[in-house]
Amino acid sequence: METKTMNIKVEKAKTSKIGQVDFNNLAFGNVFTDHMVVCNYKNGSWEVPEIVPYHPITLDPSAKIFHYGQSIFEGMKAYKDGNDDIWLFRPMDNCKRLNISAKRMAIPEIPEDYFMESLKALLKLEKDWIPQTPGSSLYIRPFIFASGNGFHASPADEYMFIIAFAPSGAYFSGKVKVLIEEKYSRSANGGVGFAKAGGNYAGQFYPTQLAVDKGYNQVIWTDDNTHEYIEEAGAMNIFVRINDTLLTAPTSDRILDGITRRSILKIAESEGIPVEERKIAVSELIKAAKDGSLKEMFGAGTAAVISPISTFGFRDVDYDLPETPNSYAALFKKCITDIQYNRAEDNFGWRLKV
Ligand code: PLP
Ligand code: COI
Repeated sequence: METKTMNIKVEKAKTSKIGQVDFNNLAFGNVFTDHMVVCNYKNGSWEVPEIVPYHPITLDPSAKIFHYGQSIFEGMKAYKDGNDDIWLFRPMDNCKRLNISAKRMAIPEIPEDYFMESLKALLKLEKDWIPQTPGSSLYIRPFIFASGNGFHASPADEYMFIIAFAPSGAYFSGKVKVLIEEKYSRSANGGVGFAKAGGNYAGQFYPTQLAVDKGYNQVIWTDDNTHEYIEEAGAMNIFVRINDTLLTAPTSDRILDGITRRSILKIAESEGIPVEERKIAVSELIKAAKDGSLKEMFGAGTAAVISPISTFGFRDVDYDLPETPNSYAALFKKCITDIQYNRAEDNFGWRLKV
């Protein structure tokens, strides 16, 4: 992969919006910091990233993002500890996954040092925006889209890579109620489900709205072939605990290979928790819910962290999950957030100081 000497130009914003932000009442992803990284792909290569004031972008109506949806993104967070030090969690995994998504969507890969160096430079500039309120963090959204023009249905010749920050609170405000979906599919074999492609999310909005109208927060997607096996949720990988065993669906080209998922599997291994990465049938879940062996279900993702599921619905029947003492969800949430906020030893080498 190409690397160039990095000299990241910074154009400072004339004023800061930080005084207008109530850091004690942050929602998710709707307040943005003063600056952003912008990096353009032109004439066959990525230009050196720059930091500029956060601002709207002007695009030609024929820009290919509007017509053919060449758009990919990542979700990460930065954390501040009691000493005002800034930490990232497994950031290279996000960079690598962005480039996996790029390849699948015929988008040019971003050089890893452009990603990492511009991210670190922006974090240093925006360090006062990293919340220290418990449960809050700075959500980081790196993304690439086709800015090149033309109605021809082929990859664009120009792209923009942007990193924007949003100081954010929790993604879900309480326990999550999910609906197991058996009509619509999120992804299919050979498709783009494993990529963090914008269209994967657009395609979920309509079925998710139908579920929200029925009182659920999220859909759990099942395999597109039989709709018999659960795969993942809209913005989270899904874990199930039956008796003491932790289950999760194996990754495939239909499922996003979540970094939180990967971290949970490592922690489970180090804690001696029995784990099975295998197909989980809806019928198995229902049987376990009925006979009492289904102890917990939770979703895992950067935005959602670990979100316990209170109820799952299937074919108009709701199955409530019990309150399990010493839950795995609580254990994993504590282990992961203690590493993220620099409150505990990081035995896995996941934390990176900025
Ligand atoms: N699955 C989907 C569809 C997601 O959007 C996300 C969120 O990024 C995840 C799983 C969890 O991935 P990660 O833990 O890397 O954030
Ligand atoms: C994340 O967890 O970072 C995600 O990308 C989920 C997002 C769709 C809000």
